Amino acid sequence: MSRIRKAIIPVAGLGTRFLPATKAVPKELLPLVDVPAIQVVVEELVASGIEQVILVTGRGKSAIVDHFDHSYELEDILRARGKESLNDEVTRISSMVRPISIRQKKPLGLGHAVLCAKDVVGNEPFAVVLPDDIIAARTPATLQLIERYEQYGAGVVAAMTVPDSDVSMYGIIGGEAMSDRIHRVKTLIEKPSLAMAPSRLAVAGRYVLPPQIFDILEQVEPGHGGEIQLTDALQTLAREEGLIGYEFEGTRHDIGDKFGFLKANIAFALERDDLGPALEAWLRERLTS
Ligand code: G1P
Repeated sequence: MSRIRKAIIPVAGLGTRFLPATKAVPKELLPLVDVPAIQVVVEELVASGIEQVILVTGRGKSAIVDHFDHSYELEDILRARGKESLNDEVTRISSMVRPISIRQKKPLGLGHAVLCAKDVVGNEPFAVVLPDDIIAARTPATLQLIERYEQYGAGVVAAMTVPDSDVSMYGIIGGEAMSDRIHRVKTLIEKPSLAMAPSRLAVAGRYVLPPQIFDILEQVEPGHGGEIQLTDALQTLAREEGLIGYEFEGTRHDIGDKFGFLKANIAFALERDDLGPALEAWLRERLTS
């Protein structure tokens, strides 16, 4: 079985929910404390053994590619000022990956964004990672999915249970439990009403997929919101080749949402030695005064 070496990160979205912050800055560069969200995601991929990162971009997103490139002036200045550890960090980021970027010329949906990367992925299985979903986990979430892919020899989607109120925000899985955390997917519906939802098991933004998904995507008609939905292609994949829903281990933050973004920032800051204790003390004081 081919090793999973490549990952697609769709980053073409306009980030309108974070305007005006995202007027000139790609939303993927908004930081979790001081680390751009996209870097958190790329670090997860590197820790999962991914060698090739494919960014599916839109206009105004070139700063994301710059973030993973060398910045010689910055490195020279940091060295000249004796800021060795900052220089090491900046250099490490530029050495981590050399992303390939592909333009999605029209916003035709997540399925279309994935299809844009077809030629670069070629005939091998690959990961898709949605950067609005940040997953803090002991074993990187993408690696957990890769391990399930290797175990079952079928595509895998990350799954999580959501409350009734959130069902209509996600792709929802209908299937049957196979073993602990593992579900055989039978149906998948993109953003159903509560009445139409086959379960409370939602797809989180991590997928490991066989290359057959590209042929399916080429045939998919526009679905929810008039967009080419990855979920609709996955429904066909589930029927034709089988698909696993895997309840990953870890904490997922939805940073595409303002409240989720704030919570992720607080959670990340609380974990840090340089900020955690002071932030916790300040929060306690605020909440009790
Ligand atoms: C996308 C997918 C959806 C999935 C979700 C996870 O939706 O279309 O199936 O459940 O990501 O975050 P979006 O949040 O981009 O609307």
